Amino acid sequence: MTDLTVTLAGMTLKNPVVVASGTFGFGHEYGEFYDLSELGGICVKGLTPRRREGNPAPRIAETPMGILNSVGLQNPGVDEFIRAELPYLKQFDTRIIANISGDTPEEYGVMCEKLSAAGVDMIEVNISCPNVKAGGLAYGTRPELAAEVTGIAKAHSAVPVMVKLSPNVTDVTEIARAVEGAGADAVSLINTLRGMRIDVNTRRPILKQNTGGLSGPAVLPVAVRMVWEVSGAVQIPVLGMGGVATAEDAAQLMLAGASAVAVGTACFADPYAPLKVRDGLAALAARQGLERVSQLTGAVRPW
Ligand SMILES: Cc1cc2nc3c(=O)[nH]c(=O)nc-3n(C[C@H](O)[C@H](O)[C@H](O)COP(=O)(O)O)c2cc1C
Repeated sequence: MTDLTVTLAGMTLKNPVVVASGTFGFGHEYGEFYDLSELGGICVKGLTPRRREGNPAPRIAETPMGILNSVGLQNPGVDEFIRAELPYLKQFDTRIIANISGDTPEEYGVMCEKLSAAGVDMIEVNISCPNVKAGGLAYGTRPELAAEVTGIAKAHSAVPVMVKLSPNVTDVTEIARAVEGAGADAVSLINTLRGMRIDVNTRRPILKQNTGGLSGPAVLPVAVRMVWEVSGAVQIPVLGMGGVATAEDAAQLMLAGASAVAVGTACFADPYAPLKVRDGLAALAARQGLERVSQLTGAVRPW
């Protein structure tokens, strides 16, 4: 039996498969299908200091091998999450990762304090959401701003801080180095890639926001490349995501350097996708004669 445990910023995960923020809500819908304790971890929907309704519809559009979304950060706000959602999630034997977005660096600090005190296992700082007009993108595309938010999150957190990187940059390693320098305990990548679809008859963009974030199998090669570049540039661990639908996809991200992987869009098509990825990874590691699945991390043999 292959050992499936992995560590991410000093935190042990029972298996390397986490679910990605915004694709798993707060777990209720998936909890009707299986015991959420089967997962390595759950990244919850992005939280903001106050309740947000998100963007107007249409805000999801299919694309070949993926989806475009402009959901925006629809969520009940951090206080309501702690009051009404966290107790449900804490029933399960899995790691709870709180994903946060703020309009100002100070807002990140306030949320980190509240969430640390409430007992989440880790905080994932979203500096990369391309859908929210106020803030968001700017932090993730400028090293000095990314470092500033990271520093504030670290100063106000009692749990490990993972910074989620945007792929919508020229050099992702520059941002990764900046957040590592500011004290990040881990990085996660990739968030969605900005995209657009247009209805040729009405000449209107399909999404009400005009543009949105692309996710799903189409983005996997970009994610593998960026995880490979980032894990070569920093010492802190990487949570890899972007287009994972099968165990082979997850194994590619791990070989590229990820310590663990997140499954996002694939959950919409198949709620069991994260468990299938986990079981497939165990089988793949066994076939390759590995004692531990963590032996895949960074084991790519580049030419
Ligand atoms: C509908 C939707 C909502 C998302 N919401 C968030 C969010 O609130 N915070 C965040 O950091 N990432 C969010 N993401 C990005 C995902 O967590 C993930 O980084 C991205 O979709 C790539 O992984 P995937 O191809 O497996 O979905 C969202 C993605 C989708 C599709």
